[in-house]
Amino acid sequence: MLYKHISVTPITPAIGAIIGDVDASNDLPNEIISEIRKAFLEHQVIFLREQKLHPKELVAFASKFGDIGYYPFVEGMEGHPEVTEVIKKEDETINFGGLWHTDTSYLESPPLGSLLYALRVPEVGGDTLFANMYLAYDSLSEGMKKIIAPLRGINSAEKPDAAVTRTNRAAERPKDAETIKTISSHPLVRTHPETGKKALYCSRAHTTHIEGMTVEESKPILEYLYQQQQREDFSCRFHWEPGSLAFWDNRAAQHNALNDYHGFRRVMHRVTLSGEKPY
Ligand code: SIN
Repeated sequence: MLYKHISVTPITPAIGAIIGDVDASNDLPNEIISEIRKAFLEHQVIFLREQKLHPKELVAFASKFGDIGYYPFVEGMEGHPEVTEVIKKEDETINFGGLWHTDTSYLESPPLGSLLYALRVPEVGGDTLFANMYLAYDSLSEGMKKIIAPLRGINSAEKPDAAVTRTNRAAERPKDAETIKTISSHPLVRTHPETGKKALYCSRAHTTHIEGMTVEESKPILEYLYQQQQREDFSCRFHWEPGSLAFWDNRAAQHNALNDYHGFRRVMHRVTLSGEKPY
């Protein structure tokens, strides 16, 4: 039997699985945590439903999987600095993370993963898409793999389409903006430190160009890679309910928060785990 303590139900052949028989508010024993970690590595994003998590419990659960990191542009919650509130209000038209990305890849050591817990969501809409970056890499021809193997992408926090998605929250609870390094060079193909598999590591949100090339020269290659990253057959779509918890692997997956619910409030709590320099 692959899993002894939890149930793991894939939601598409490509990516994503629902984990059952887990109450994340408990201090879970190591054998359960190892099985959750195994499912996380196998499916790149896992989902738990019907959880009841105080911010303290969310942080405690997250810390079983790594060191707690931080989101650079928005101050954490009062009394819970490790937790970032991801909110879209009734009168707002821009949502946080509303484009394909891997989290904060403009940092020198981007996060291993992130956990997102839903408190209030629209009944219809507000889903999140996830895509498998191993499959995106595997889909390339041997010729293309050879071309991009030595290339590095320049990743910036300032690309306008991405920068705009954080403006509302960063204006309310500004943080670090002046002091953090918002541009980093990372390999276009990274090796996952735990699985050893290769994954495409560039994104429409943050990659501006390929190191040593102009923006114009980089565009045809990057556009092709983005297209492969966003293939429907490499992705899944998750519908949130209050109490849903997602935990995604930023080293092997990308995500995109759909912005199709104007007029409704959506409130989530997010915790990030520190990661290492991609190689
Ligand atoms: C994010 O990119 O962290 C937010 C995702 C979401 O709100 O679904």
